[in-house]
Amino acid sequence: MTRPPLRLGIAGLGTVGTGVLAILQRHGALLAARAGRPVEPVAVSARDRTRDRGVSLDGLAWEDDPVALARRPDVDVFVEVIGGHEGAARAAVEAAIDAGKDVVTANKALLAHHGHALALAAEAKGHVIRFEAAVAGGIPVIKTLTEGLAANEVTRVLGVMNGTCNYILTRMEEAGLPYETVFEEARALGYLEADPRLDVDGIDAGHKLSLLAAIAFGTEVSFDAVELEGIGSVTIEDIRRAGDMGYRIKLLGVAQMTGRGLEQRMQPCLVPATSPLGQLSGGTNMVVIEGDSAGQIVLRGAGAGAGPTASAVLGDVIDIARGVRIPTFGRPASSLRRARPARGAVAAPYYLRLDLVDKPGALAKVARVLGDAGISIDRMRQYGHAEAATAPVLIVTHRTTRLALDEALGGMAETGVVEGRPVALRIEAV
Ligand code: HSE
Repeated sequence: MTRPPLRLGIAGLGTVGTGVLAILQRHGALLAARAGRPVEPVAVSARDRTRDRGVSLDGLAWEDDPVALARRPDVDVFVEVIGGHEGAARAAVEAAIDAGKDVVTANKALLAHHGHALALAAEAKGHVIRFEAAVAGGIPVIKTLTEGLAANEVTRVLGVMNGTCNYILTRMEEAGLPYETVFEEARALGYLEADPRLDVDGIDAGHKLSLLAAIAFGTEVSFDAVELEGIGSVTIEDIRRAGDMGYRIKLLGVAQMTGRGLEQRMQPCLVPATSPLGQLSGGTNMVVIEGDSAGQIVLRGAGAGAGPTASAVLGDVIDIARGVRIPTFGRPASSLRRARPARGAVAAPYYLRLDLVDKPGALAKVARVLGDAGISIDRMRQYGHAEAATAPVLIVTHRTTRLALDEALGGMAETGVVEGRPVALRIEAV
């Protein structure tokens, strides 16, 4: 017996929404064969009905209000690709859950802020919220964590989860250009979010990390506990010096369960230049998952764009059409624990760059401050400085805590031989 079609209501006809319609129109038969039933868009909603989006809207009902779309009786799955963690997106997803629909969303901000409450509400009604497209675009990282690696205790999840930041950092390195110039280039190329702080301040990537952490560690989403630091203060000088020492600078997200609680960091870090993360260039994403049985899994691919994101949305839709009903965060939302947030719990080596006054004993004073804080030097390099009054010095430390490092940085300010504020960046072992 032929199963009835799965009927979609698509809210938002921007890049992702039109990408979803384009795949449905191109691959309708393929999707139906794989899903075991037709997958049909029946209604859409967007702000501007007259805009030419390059896809046909023929035969689709139109709703001005996404909440009305979410409540339509002929919609089985509500696809939310509006974006934003409040306003229309939140109201419409809540309405869809209330109306007893399954939800597929690409909205990382919404889930980072309200994911736990939304998952509880959906599961109370026996429905699912799926969000593959919200994290790392076309990379099936949610599926990998919730299904392929379901038998593992995950020890660490890390990665580059914002393609725009990775584009900016690699372009700075390759062209030898300062941050400000490359930021403007990225804006001109349309790579930046409408509010660019979402990209360059690490917020968008932080949203994604918090969602991965919830699945990996069985904890309630806690975006507020993510330590966030953007890429605005990364200089071309540090990119070059880090390169000299065998590293690349990445906006790296790391989530790890420690004895002191859940550590979630999104910050510029050094990674070995030869590692998969170090080799990642341009606007690509990479997520590394470490499981106790599977070991290290590396996933790489496009983190944004119409095709990759729509591919992820429709992967979720096909699962629902097949009857695959995995809870939002890979286990019932009521079983998720509230994580104790930990900061600075995991020790690491650090890269330090400082400008040292060129006089006898200056280096000895810096070495003493580090020694007094219990920090051991692994490698050190002083650069030639011709006529300049200060000498650039790079230090790579052995593993130390952020607490000890902050003590040492405070001590350096008091030595009278360090000009300005030293740069300190964590080195992540991968
Ligand atoms: N702006 C994001 C990025 C894509 O550059 O990766 C959407 O999350």
